[in-house]
Formats: sequence, C-alpha cells, structure tokens
Amino acid sequence: MEYKKFAQYYDQFYKNKNYVGEVQFLLNFITKKDKVLDVGCGTGIHASLLEKNGIAVDGVDMNLEMLNVAKTRLHSKLYLQDILDLDIPKKYDVIISMFAVINHLKDTLELEQCFRNLKDILTDQGKIIIDLHNPQKSGKKTDTFDNMSRTMEWHYDKNTKIEESKITFSIADTQYIDHHTFRIFTIEEVKQCCQNVGLYVKEVYENYDVDKCGTASSKNLQFVIMKEVFKEMD
Ligand SMILES: C[S@@+](CC[C@H](N)C(=O)[O-])C[C@H]1O[C@@H](n2cnc3c(N)ncnc32)[C@H](O)[C@@H]1O
Repeated sequence: MEYKKFAQYYDQFYKNKNYVGEVQFLLNFITKKDKVLDVGCGTGIHASLLEKNGIAVDGVDMNLEMLNVAKTRLHSKLYLQDILDLDIPKKYDVIISMFAVINHLKDTLELEQCFRNLKDILTDQGKIIIDLHNPQKSGKKTDTFDNMSRTMEWHYDKNTKIEESKITFSIADTQYIDHHTFRIFTIEEVKQCCQNVGLYVKEVYENYDVDKCGTASSKNLQFVIMKEVFKEMD
C-alpha cells in the first residue's frame, strides 16, 4: 500500500475493522506493568486502545505520514524505522505487530532478519505477537459504508506464496486505487525462521480467538513467539 498517499484516509478506509476485538485478544497476553512496542503501528489504533486500558505502548513504523497520524492519538515514543534495520535503545516485554505488517516482507530471509531484530529488543521472558494474513484463494469483494465504497480484488498464487491486491476506494466523487504485494508465510516457515534465530512459536491462533487454533486453512493467523532458551520452563 502507498501509505504515504493514503495515511490521511487510512482510518476511514478501515473504520469497520474490529480493532476493539483484536485488542481484547491482545489483552490475554499483556499486563499493565508490561512495556509494549507496536511494530508497524501505522496510525496507532491498537496502541491507543491499549493505552486506554492503562498500558503504555511505543510504536515503530517506516512511514512518516502514518506516524504523524499516530502522534495525534498516542502519548508514548514513536520511532520512524524499518523493521529490517531497527535501532531502538530499549527492551520490551511484549512486541505486537498487527494487520499483516510482516506480510510486507518479501521472503523468509527478511522474515528471519525481522525476528533477529525483534529478539534483540525483547526482554528474556518477553513475547512477540504477530498477526499474519493467510488468504486461501483469489477473490473480489465490495463493501459500502457511509459515503464510501471499497472494492478489493486479490489474486493469490500458491506456488509463489504471493498475493497481489488491488483496492479501489471511492469517497464521495473521488476514487483512490491502491496495489499491494504480500508474501504469505506458512506456519512452518514462521516456525523455521524463529528457530533459526533462537525463538520459538508457543501458540498459533486464528481470528483473534484464544479458543481457536490456527491452521493452514485459517484466514488469518496470530502467533505467540518466545525466546528458545525459556522453552524448557513452559
Ligand atoms: C496494513 S498497515 C497496519 C497498520 C496497523 N498495525 C494497523 O493494524 O492498523 C501496515 C503498516 O506496516 C508498516 N510497514 C510495512 N513494512 C514495514 C517495515 N519494513 N518497517 C516498518 N513498518 C513497516 C506500514 O508503513 C504500515 O503503516
């Protein structure tokens, strides 16, 4: 997505997304004393809902325009950085990355680099929670709400594990077209990349529900990841 161009409309485009439900899911893993970092925080909606629950959340994103929106609703530290090249002078008890941020990485080498960087700023018994998009097939869908409509067309290639999408947003009389390319990572790939850097996948969920185990056929997947050295203590 061209976040630079769309930052000012982002919240409107995703106003029906169930951020509240996703934050309820996250609260199963976060306590009030935890220091939390939201990776790819975008306009800061998850972070601000967590703040409302008494949890301080820093954010990092590579897009200045998205961070400028986040700044209007958050009180904590925001870093303008790429997850592939992080330089954050603090450690966090919980690192979250919601809504397909990780799917912007182009291959497992980048995924591994990202995990290595997150591990460096994770406290010893800390957790990383990542939320991945997991399309099963190609499709097309139109939603309309208020004065806007959104048509999403997506093509998923199982062989390359690449999803190409085109989203057409219409607000009043103006149309905005956005294209994005997502690398879809399998559960096995995530487990392997974690293992390669000394992390492990403790749990996999689907649909932000702690009672539902994520599988290859889930539409979205949430991984809870921890440091390998603490595996024995589980
Ligand atoms: C779909 S938005 C999700 C934003 C937010 N997490 C949410 O749930 O609304 C993806 C965000 O990831 C950020 N992003 C993508 N690749 C990134 C990278 N390599 N480093 C840092 N941020 C990245 C984008 O700038 C964008 O703000």
